[in-house]
Amino acid sequence: MDEQRHFETRAVHSGERRAGGRNRRESEDGEFYPISTPIYASTTFAHQNIETTDRVLGGEEPGYSYARYDNPTVHALEEALASLEAPEGGARAFAFASGMAAMHAALTAAELGGGAVVLAAEQLYGSTATLLMQIFGPGGVEVRFVDAYDLGAVEKKVAELNPRAVVIETISNPLLRVADTERIAGITREGGAALVVDNTFATPYLQRPLELGADIVVHSATKYLSGHGDLTAGVVVAGAPYDAAVEQVRKLVGGVLAPFGAWLAHRGLKTLPLRLARQCENARLISARLATHPKISKVHHPARNEHPDVETTRRVLADTGGLVAFELAAEGREAAFAFLNALELCVKAPSLGDIYTLAIHPATSSHRELSPARRERLGVKENLIRLSCGIEHPDDVIRDLEQALERI
Ligand SMILES: Cc1ncc(COP(=O)(O)O)c(C=O)c1O
Repeated sequence: MDEQRHFETRAVHSGERRAGGRNRRESEDGEFYPISTPIYASTTFAHQNIETTDRVLGGEEPGYSYARYDNPTVHALEEALASLEAPEGGARAFAFASGMAAMHAALTAAELGGGAVVLAAEQLYGSTATLLMQIFGPGGVEVRFVDAYDLGAVEKKVAELNPRAVVIETISNPLLRVADTERIAGITREGGAALVVDNTFATPYLQRPLELGADIVVHSATKYLSGHGDLTAGVVVAGAPYDAAVEQVRKLVGGVLAPFGAWLAHRGLKTLPLRLARQCENARLISARLATHPKISKVHHPARNEHPDVETTRRVLADTGGLVAFELAAEGREAAFAFLNALELCVKAPSLGDIYTLAIHPATSSHRELSPARRERLGVKENLIRLSCGIEHPDDVIRDLEQALERI
């Protein structure tokens, strides 16, 4: 039933227990039930008798026992997330206290132990690359990198290295390259590797990697999924055998999302399609306008014909995403800083996916830890700005960008 409904409908209703399910107790008096799952601020859940507690703890009966294992508010969010990422079923979602905790659990579930090789996109979010090298590396995992937007290179490295897992991002930061998840999944399946996809920039509204053959999906729910710049959270969505492993890692490491955070994320999720449709539209309009501006030398956006992944984008993404990156004609950090300081509406803050339009200087924020040579190799220039489009009226954002450009 749920899977026959449209994405927008599932975003609003999935996970809520109005007419049955594990939170049903609310309505058993027949008088009222909450239309929004309440925040269950309880660490422990008791049952009518100890036999039920025994069965719940033993996994023989669904139910709640201890909040680090499961909680009704968190579970409601997880059902909604599973319904959005895997509408056909066969996968479970797990909410974490941050995107990094989620990524750590996903990589552990992919059995990255001593002797294993992990092949990671060289364009990966910096902390994910550092997590692999500093946390998994000392345990004997060999971390290798590949240009994930060069299919030939991925194919060659998978054949050569026989990796246990391949880690990619649907859309890269900050140049917005679009991964061919479908073809990469074909390569990893052939090579016997688990494909872990960080779907933070695309969200299930634009792509559902599990449907394209990925094994594990990870999100920083801090971004588009919750969407209001007021929550740090992460998500893993996976089917067998990885789901059980993710659940076990979360139980033992304990990086679970707290009930208030889960409630906020679930509330945010309900407007994901509305927000992202507007953000994609704003990004398209803004990128088109910036491309004609004399003080801009280059615009990176997957809807533009000169973007290297235009064809892949049409195949694997439902829309072109809410981000735009652009290079100022004036070179160097000074011009980039002057431009950012001149912004009056756009917020100068290092995140993305919020309702507010956010502008950052990648070379000194997301890519700060890299050497200048590596930044240069990845195309992260000093005059590059990344914009995460919000839901404001696009004319107001364009006016702000233009007045800031006037002042440099
Ligand atoms: C693509 C991507 N993955 C993961 C993360 C980590 O998420 P969090 O900050 O929620 O731990 C980020 C954070 O910026 C990100 O951009």
